[in-house]
Amino acid sequence: MEIVIGICFICLFFYFIWQYQELKKFELTKYEVCSDKIKNEVRLVMISDLHGHVYGKDNDILFEAVREQKPDLILIPGDMMVSKKVKSYEIAYHAFTELAKIAPVYFSNGNHESRPAHKKMPATEAFLAYEKRVKHAGIHILNNASEKIRVNGNEICIYGAEIDLSCYTKGKMIPLKENFLENELGQVGDAYNILLAHNPAYSEQYAAWGADLTLCGHNHGGLVRIPGIGSLISPQFQLFPKYDAGRFDFGDKTVIIGRGLGTHTFHIRIFNRAELVSIHLVPN
Ligand SMILES: [Fe+2]
Repeated sequence: MEIVIGICFICLFFYFIWQYQELKKFELTKYEVCSDKIKNEVRLVMISDLHGHVYGKDNDILFEAVREQKPDLILIPGDMMVSKKVKSYEIAYHAFTELAKIAPVYFSNGNHESRPAHKKMPATEAFLAYEKRVKHAGIHILNNASEKIRVNGNEICIYGAEIDLSCYTKGKMIPLKENFLENELGQVGDAYNILLAHNPAYSEQYAAWGADLTLCGHNHGGLVRIPGIGSLISPQFQLFPKYDAGRFDFGDKTVIIGRGLGTHTFHIRIFNRAELVSIHLVPN
């Protein structure tokens, strides 16, 4: 019996050392997305679910990796901080300001921003002050809003969807309100349409609405990934979620779900390295 307990203890010891090291690393995933609407290449970097995580000194490792991609735009579909940890707001703010020195940054709320923004909680006041500073830093915040821009001769419309907090209820899959995207964002136009939408559970609706490219996060890759199968569990405790991580194509529409860069509550990543995503939009 003592031998078994000893072996378990040693295994646990090595597991914690391994996870400690694993959580300090991220990898770069590259995608190429073709479209008739793209005339000249556009380079995007997506950062999802940073959750106030730090790589190196003050995130210098992360910023250098972003800089190396020479992005035209940096796109962030939510959860830069942990809503209950006000200390993480400062890390998120610093990340926003450093990223804005590299390229224009477009952001839409994840559940960690929506919660203090729309629900009275102890962190609400701190959140509103933080959000104000982020806006002043020149970050384009798109919560059920859009901006049309020209990038390398291409007309691009960037939308941000902020869905209802009920859509993050644990143990339940609440459908999006009927015509939610049409009502909040209108109909898509002829530009290349990019949608920032934190929760990937509604990937089919995002594509059906008309987003040429949708960027999601939220799942953190499912904490544990089973090789050949995918994510074990979603943040809503759905087992083996269909839209877990990676690329999903719906005809000529694409959804890319990042595995995220940070963690919170359960600091676990097994076969699920944190991820910085680089996307090249290229002409067909
Ligand atoms: Fe989230």
